Amino acid sequence: MSESADSDGPQIVIENLVKRFGDRTVLDHINITIDRGETLVVIGGSGAGKSTLVRHLIALERPTSGKILVDGIDMASLGDFELSKIRRRFGMVFQKYALFDSMTVYDNVAFPLREQTKMSEREVKERVMTKLEELGVAHAVQRTPAEISGGMAKRVGIARALVLEPEILIYDEPTSGLDPVTSRTVDELIEEMRERFGVTSVVITHDMASAFDIADRVAMLVRGKIAVEGPPEKVMASDHEDVQRFVHSSAIDPGRLAQRSARKSPAEVRALRAARLAKGEAK
Ligand SMILES: Nc1ncnc2c1ncn2[C@@H]1O[C@H](COP(=O)(O)OP(=O)(O)OP(=O)(O)O)[C@@H](O)[C@H]1O
Ligand SMILES: [Mg+2]
Repeated sequence: MSESADSDGPQIVIENLVKRFGDRTVLDHINITIDRGETLVVIGGSGAGKSTLVRHLIALERPTSGKILVDGIDMASLGDFELSKIRRRFGMVFQKYALFDSMTVYDNVAFPLREQTKMSEREVKERVMTKLEELGVAHAVQRTPAEISGGMAKRVGIARALVLEPEILIYDEPTSGLDPVTSRTVDELIEEMRERFGVTSVVITHDMASAFDIADRVAMLVRGKIAVEGPPEKVMASDHEDVQRFVHSSAIDPGRLAQRSARKSPAEVRALRAARLAKGEAK
């Protein structure tokens, strides 16, 4: 990655994004920017368009109209070769795991390293096992996806997304189906990726505790439009009817925001990343 890509200004710009499936408008003029080192949490009811929105970020969906710019590059203008190159900068945790059924847990997580790096098998093993241990699924390395629970498959999917230590991470409901303790572990991992590597994250969640613990900003999608967007405290205080219903149905403690541990700001995270780059540690 070039140094210039680390310049100020938003890393991701979504400009007037419209997506229609047939005559159904699923995303209706979405405008949002995401800064480097920032965590944007996207909330919204089932079918609101959240997965469709994030799938556009890695060009798994093409806009009907509007643009997605990543470091100023228009994703829709890229051919297959350039697209596969830029996709290496992203990690994605899919809502439905998307693991290879015929491969073991170990080989699923090793796959991106074997495909996209020149690491030796020893280095691959070290990295894979570290990620699996962090997610508490190291004991399942030799099993196939059919032999593990949904919650474990989710954690393996997260390990696979993190294994290349990408710059931009997209998590589509990373904690759904996980118990509360494991959910908090996943939140901590999301935070750790941000603080250690300066990653930019987009997290879709129905888990309001998680949203309010990890977000720099929250955007709520209602029927394909952004109903409210801003820091968690602003979203919490919004008098938008759908937002109120959504936030309050989750029984989140309003004191939670005050309690969340001191987080580094996106600017601090960017400064840390710049220092790492200067020392030649970061990619
Ligand atoms: N490929 C597709 N073809 C047709 N319709 C689609 C397609 N993908 C998504 N949709 C529709 O777009 C709408 C938004 O779907 P999306 O999966 O983005 O919602 P979501 O907010 O992620 O919901 P959930 O919380 O249930 O995951 C839904 O009505 C869905 O049926
Ligand atoms: Mg979805």
